[in-house]
Amino acid sequence: MSSDMTPSEDAVAAESADESTMTSPTPRPKTTGLHVGDPAPGVAKVDPIIVADNVRRSFGGVHAVDVDHLEIPRGAITALIGPNGAGKTTLFNLLTGFDKPNEGTWSFDGHSLSGVAAYKVSRMGLVRTFQLTKALGLLTVMENMKLGAKNQRGEKFWSSLIPPLWRSQDDELEDRAMELLKRFKLDTKADDFAASLSGGQRKLLEMARSLMTEPTLVMLDEPMAGVNPALTQSLLDHILNLKDEGMTVLFVEHDMHMVRHIADWVVVMAEGKIVAEGDPHEVMRDPAVIDAYLGAHQDVDLGHVTGRIPTVGGDAPSSMTADEIVAEAEAEEEAVRKSQEKHK
Ligand SMILES: Nc1ncnc2c1ncn2[C@@H]1O[C@H](COP(=O)(O)OP(=O)(O)OP(=O)(O)O)[C@@H](O)[C@H]1O
Ligand SMILES: [Mg+2]
Repeated sequence: MSSDMTPSEDAVAAESADESTMTSPTPRPKTTGLHVGDPAPGVAKVDPIIVADNVRRSFGGVHAVDVDHLEIPRGAITALIGPNGAGKTTLFNLLTGFDKPNEGTWSFDGHSLSGVAAYKVSRMGLVRTFQLTKALGLLTVMENMKLGAKNQRGEKFWSSLIPPLWRSQDDELEDRAMELLKRFKLDTKADDFAASLSGGQRKLLEMARSLMTEPTLVMLDEPMAGVNPALTQSLLDHILNLKDEGMTVLFVEHDMHMVRHIADWVVVMAEGKIVAEGDPHEVMRDPAVIDAYLGAHQDVDLGHVTGRIPTVGGDAPSSMTADEIVAEAEAEEEAVRKSQEKHK
């Protein structure tokens, strides 16, 4: 977890949040029917986009990742949760080619990715963002965006000798970048150095940049960490929009309330292993999950709620029990059902 914003950065970030980002989230129906059989660690998915087997990575004596089998469902939003040090970021690094495992195989969209370098992985349509943002501070926001694009003709030697070829592509890239920057309310910052952005805006830039490659799977490592509360809602909406546009999302988040709110499926890691999987309701009631967070024999309180998302009945309290989170989810789903019936 990291919160890298200062109060003055907060103010900068809040500036770019318009009224619509402050309103209550629009409930959207969850994607269901993702798994085959009882939800348990490693359960098969109807249409998996990632399939990983026996993926292990140790650092000295620490088994950072020790996953027997994992499938990520296509076309849905999956949250990867677990206490600090559970191995979530290490798993992201392995799956995206930023780190090498001690053993294991995995595939993306039916293609084996074991041993494939990170830049090739992203060209294949799997992109990720980092827990600590990697925006390049001494480049402008626009330059950062262009770096995110794949197959840039200007990079190739022969075509780089014929400027008209890359110029027209450069214009296209710039248009696409501008469109994305508008969507993330960063268009007015296009010519500013990335270093001048607030922590939250850098997170948005990273997400916008990842979309330059037109990915099929977007992996977000703590996209909300350090983001000003005023921007949180729009970030959540951006994530939900990715699914609406046909992308698959896998994200790491510590706030159970947010997980409950946007995830269709939840995978829980502890000490490198997958300890539970299921829809958000089931997972939050799973004793293995409560144990992973709190150890046995403690109060059933998943507790970590930042209060950044307004709830159906008003603002979220700073801490909620699993039962309270589930009850709220049920109320919200009922509201979605009713509004859908009304529109039939
Ligand atoms: N490069 C590294 N060298 C040594 N140990 C590492 C390295 N990267 C991760 N670890 C260790 O591996 C374990 C898993 O770390 P990881 O960062 O994957 O956890 P995480 O679930 O992402 O935690 P958080 O929620 O705090 O981000 C931890 O014990 C961590 O200290
Ligand atoms: Mg991490």
